[in-house]
Amino acid sequence: QTIYLKDYKPFAYVVEDVHLTFALHPTATRVVSRIQFAPTETADGVMFLHGEDLTLISAAIDGEPASYRKVSGGIEVDVPDGPFTWQAEVEISPSTNTALEGLYMSSGMYCTQCEAEGFRKITYYPDRPDVMAPFTVRIESDMPVLLSNGNPQASGDGWAEWHDPWPKPAYLFALVAGELVNHAGQFTTMSGKDVELNIWVRPADINKCEFGMGALIRSMKWDEEVYGREYDLDVFNIVAVDDFNMGAMENKGLNIFNSSCVLASPETSTDANFERIEAIIAHEYFHNWTGNRITCRDWFQLCLKEGLTVFRDQTFTGDMRSHAVKRIDDVITLRARQFREDQGPLAHPVRPESFVEINNFYTVTVYEKGAEVIGMLKRLVGDAAYKKALNLYFDRHDGDAATIEDWLKVFEDVTGRDLSQFKLWYSQAGTPHLHVTDSYDNGTYSLTLRQSHKPSPNQTDKQPMVIPVAVGLLSPNGDEVVPTQVLELTEVEQTFTFDGLASKPIPSILRDFSAPVVLHQDQSDADREFLLANDTDPFNKWESGRMLARDTLLDMIENDAAPNANYLAALDRALNDETTDPAFRALLLALPTIDDLSQEIASKGGTPDPTAIYDARRALRGAIARHCGDTLTSLYKTHQVTGAYVPDAETGGKRALTNAALSLISLLDNGDTARTQYAAADNMTQELAALSALIQIGAAETELADFADRWKDDRLVMDKWFSLQTALCEPQDAAKIADTLTKHPDFDWKNPNRFRSLFGGLISNTAGFHAADGSAYILLTDWLIKLDAANPQTAARVSSAFDTWTRYDEGRKLIIKTQLDRILATEGISPDMAEMVGRMAKA
Ligand code: ARG
Ligand code: ZN
Repeated sequence: QTIYLKDYKPFAYVVEDVHLTFALHPTATRVVSRIQFAPTETADGVMFLHGEDLTLISAAIDGEPASYRKVSGGIEVDVPDGPFTWQAEVEISPSTNTALEGLYMSSGMYCTQCEAEGFRKITYYPDRPDVMAPFTVRIESDMPVLLSNGNPQASGDGWAEWHDPWPKPAYLFALVAGELVNHAGQFTTMSGKDVELNIWVRPADINKCEFGMGALIRSMKWDEEVYGREYDLDVFNIVAVDDFNMGAMENKGLNIFNSSCVLASPETSTDANFERIEAIIAHEYFHNWTGNRITCRDWFQLCLKEGLTVFRDQTFTGDMRSHAVKRIDDVITLRARQFREDQGPLAHPVRPESFVEINNFYTVTVYEKGAEVIGMLKRLVGDAAYKKALNLYFDRHDGDAATIEDWLKVFEDVTGRDLSQFKLWYSQAGTPHLHVTDSYDNGTYSLTLRQSHKPSPNQTDKQPMVIPVAVGLLSPNGDEVVPTQVLELTEVEQTFTFDGLASKPIPSILRDFSAPVVLHQDQSDADREFLLANDTDPFNKWESGRMLARDTLLDMIENDAAPNANYLAALDRALNDETTDPAFRALLLALPTIDDLSQEIASKGGTPDPTAIYDARRALRGAIARHCGDTLTSLYKTHQVTGAYVPDAETGGKRALTNAALSLISLLDNGDTARTQYAAADNMTQELAALSALIQIGAAETELADFADRWKDDRLVMDKWFSLQTALCEPQDAAKIADTLTKHPDFDWKNPNRFRSLFGGLISNTAGFHAADGSAYILLTDWLIKLDAANPQTAARVSSAFDTWTRYDEGRKLIIKTQLDRILATEGISPDMAEMVGRMAKA
């Protein structure tokens, strides 16, 4: 059933203390809970506790058998007027829990995932984030390592007790038991307290922890220096598990990670893996303040912790590596994934107003657009006010389950600004469009900005929003005559003027991508080439090249044009500009994807043809390889990294550039350079780049076999082997290759990483996924139905692959609609899947 934000009511009881005892057993774990409740004024003698898939053994209130009724989603208990103790014993079966929610087993170890609503599968409890309590946990098991939240309190043979003094909601509860070993570390906080750090893994993975430990220490230091936030327990534990629905989880003092998001070594992880691991470790650590100390009142406020924490981890990565490169990377992802979501049937506001299954709302909109909203707020109020507001937020709301209203209020109180219009960013779905026109007259330059909004599901009428537009002006000789300033567009249309300009300037608009909008401006090739060469804003410098590439491709697709010679020449010049970062130049070589171009064509009212777009992209890649061949060959040679592999931004940037060059060079040399690189590689970045280049020219047979043979015992590396083949093969072979790989003995479909590798690869192969015969649609649907019965959460997430279906021609639409209906008609389909597919089918 549907839950609405407007229906929020506080819980009528305070939880003063929680004591849990776990007697672990694979199929019959016993959980005894002893919980202290106190009624508030709204209590009426009946208390509802959530509970799902629990076998209730006994329930008592103050030592007497409790009077209760089982109701949908839990039980109703008759309770006294005053404070009381609830004691219950339930039985659960972790080893048959394939949904990976609550307590489950992964590769022989016990672990938990409680966000958002998994704790109710562990015991009866008010499983809602606004109910916070201190927890004491006793674990009984013959597993050698027994962990829970907080600080270790006592332990003995076959048992351990943990106490977490910080009141927390149940979604932050965690328990781990297994045959684990630890990579230990230590951190002294800014007030001089020693914290013991551990990354717990299976013995075979002990050599993959060092980087993660360094990243954790860098995160702890950064949060002290930049946000003034200190860690608040004696220990901080991280555990790596192989079967995990998401990336990682910020459980208080006991973060649990998908092993792919924490384990790293030069031999098995790429530069991109290292950067992502560092970011996720930071993200989960930063949640200790933005999420745990200050949590969310209800799940509609999810962006309060996620948007802010993503914004924090993005800033951290920028500080550790390069702000320019990080910003460009983030915008590429935002447009590819969030703009896509915002344009389709799954569009929803950053703060949704209703849901059936909250797990379906851990989206790029809540996370990434949520982070953009924080960035805009910071840009509007300035760095100093942002810092003040954050300090006030931590002071005022420490220990609270807070709301977006609370968050905005601290900014209003600090700055005196009225943020009611700004708040539309939280409630209006869809990506705003920003239209720019300009004129120059007698020394005065005028910029006219206009905003427009397309309708979204359940939102037809939209109001104008506050859009911060960072602008700089350059003179035709390349000097910056007006440095960056932030124009605040609040009306539908406004004109801003700049005086005293000797000639018409070249504008650089939406610098640093200052707002998540689609920018429409009439820009000549000449202006773009000029900005690509001269803009002082690295984002817009890159964006100018991107727009040249995009329009070149659109012209090839729509008008059968030849590749734009101006673009090829400008690209060649930019690649040769040794004053720019190699990582930046690598990004210039990343063309818009088939899906990016489809989004563009659809938003102008056209019907994208994935095959035609694929062909145009391939033709342009060939043209770049030929036109820039000498440059690419020379960059490939001069930017090779020698010496031992280090996962840092500087050498990683060089590898990114040489490997982007390699992929193009391979179009001309039949793969000779790539084969040589593959054979010589001593790290996964070089190995995988060479393998990818060979797959893309259909010449990787030997290397794919060799790769599988060498890495067959490493699950994370084999995930790469599965995904590369479905992602990079020729489109017409994609469904066939995916189907064959599902029959491979190592295709363990219940492991979310493996499922996502194979099918995520297929989905990302846009022309292959959208093969006109519908073979990939049908294959994916068969597997989604199969997975849904075991793991609804991951199945529902992957189903969003269909969210662009209304863009396509009648033939494709008919086949996809048939698949969506087939899912909906499947008996026993999960509410997760029913909600996602239902929303998509309605479009
Ligand atoms: N809070 C976690 C994070 O962003 C995500 C966990 C979400 N899990 C889920 N099943 N919805 O770091
Ligand atoms: Zn998070």
